[in-house]
Amino acid sequence: MFQRTRLWRRKPLTSRQHIAGGALAALLASLASVSAADDEPSPALSWNCAGCHGTDGASAGPMVPSIAGMDPRYFMHLMQDFKQGERYSTIMGRIAGGYGLLELREMARFFAGREWVPARVAAEADLVAAGATIHEEHCAECHEDAGRYQDKEIPRLAGQWPAYLLSQLLDYRTERVQMPQPDKMRNRLAKLSDADLAAVSAYYGQVDATKALAQDETANGDSH
Ligand code: HEC
Ligand code: HEC
Repeated sequence: MFQRTRLWRRKPLTSRQHIAGGALAALLASLASVSAADDEPSPALSWNCAGCHGTDGASAGPMVPSIAGMDPRYFMHLMQDFKQGERYSTIMGRIAGGYGLLELREMARFFAGREWVPARVAAEADLVAAGATIHEEHCAECHEDAGRYQDKEIPRLAGQWPAYLLSQLLDYRTERVQMPQPDKMRNRLAKLSDADLAAVSAYYGQVDATKALAQDETANGDSH
């Protein structure tokens, strides 16, 4: 075992490993078990999702989230939680249960490569301003860059459907619903009213629709 590790370490790094660094290299290695990392993932499995999540993961329905461009590690984490019943869902538990690991990985790669199409839902300026303030005070620490940021643990919020975000936030706040989340987020949500959650959802819903405005709001809390 020890020998093997040493041998592996001595091997010169490929150029991809040099560029990508440890985390991405590990991800590529895990994805390589489906097919070579340079291959385009097949869209075939995603056709089963398109009826609800839209073509290429750009949802057209306000209660179904867009999943295009999602960090593939977060996608895997979500789908496995759905599958194992560790994440509350109305529908996805049953759907995720129908797929094996390799199929999930293929879909993770496919959706990660699709372009994010923001929902662009206009909202009252006052509501958006209130939402921006809540975001700055309670959420920006993790959901950086007006909620545009995403990584293996943090979902993108900017440009997601506000009606979906609100329904999720109400679920995350309910103790009897099982939603994996950091304690800090749970504590912050517990302090907010339903109206606050509606405001912050409306804020995220329009962030990408008016990029310059959203950046101004982030800078000085003024929506005008
Ligand atoms: C019948 C409609 C429907 C179909 C078909 C469907 N989904 Fe979903 N999906 C939903 C809904 C609704 C949610 C919100 C969670 C819930 O209540 O189930 C969701 C949530 C998700 C999420 C979580 C998104 C987030 O930001 O948290 C992912 C990932 C996802 N679906 C992937 C898929 C994939 C992959 C397929 C195809 C294999 C698929 N879905 C098929 C309706 C659907
Ligand atoms: C300590 C870091 C942290 C803070 C603070 C935080 N979040 Fe989160 N948020 C997360 C993580 C991590 C997840 C993913 C949890 C999971 O796997 O379900 C998440 C998930 C979400 C989701 C689900 C998105 C989806 O696609 O289903 C919403 C909505 C959300 N957060 C909104 C908020 C709002 C609004 C606030 C402020 C009131 C907030 N968060 C504060 C870390 C944080």
